Amino acid sequence: MMEKSFVMVKPDAVERRLMGKILTKFEEKGLQIIATKMILITEDLAKEHYAEHSEKPFFKSLVEYITSAPVLAMVIQGDECISVIRKIVGSTNPKEAEIGTIRGDYAMDTGRNIIHASDAPDSAKREINLFFKESEIMDYEMPDINMIYE
Ligand SMILES: Nc1ncnc2c1ncn2[C@@H]1O[C@H](COP(=O)(O)OP(=O)(O)OP(=O)(O)O)[C@@H](O)[C@H]1O
Ligand SMILES: [Mg+2]
Repeated sequence: MMEKSFVMVKPDAVERRLMGKILTKFEEKGLQIIATKMILITEDLAKEHYAEHSEKPFFKSLVEYITSAPVLAMVIQGDECISVIRKIVGSTNPKEAEIGTIRGDYAMDTGRNIIHASDAPDSAKREINLFFKESEIMDYEMPDINMIYE
């Protein structure tokens, strides 16, 4: 089933010039990037995006981290892409993330885990609406779609 997911290259990865490598992982997999924008997240948006963690001990440092420099926010589309992207991203703790995943290859610390990806259809919808207007999400054909999907 075709799905959309919200993905965000976090400030540490933007500062470390890893945006290109991260986008390449998704593109080479066969996923379709249908929206991107670079933004500096406000404290309010950070708190809303990570509302589920508001009672956690790391919440304050998480909000500081995610607002510390620009992020690259994006919407990615593909068949069952929410779970596929979570696999490409790897475990929350980069020390436990498999080598070959984004966190496994490029990160060391849970508090600097370089990327966010939606974890379920509900959160994907909520997060896409939080960061993007309908008009910012592109609709275009992939000419090689029959080489990606049977
Ligand atoms: N124990 C922790 N210490 C510090 N930061 C944490 C901790 N647990 C989670 N975080 C931060 O909060 C984010 C959200 O945690 P969550 O449990 O939703 O993990 P995730 O779904 O893998 O990551 P994300 O939501 O960013 O994609 C993590 O990506 C990480 O940046
Ligand atoms: Mg999460």
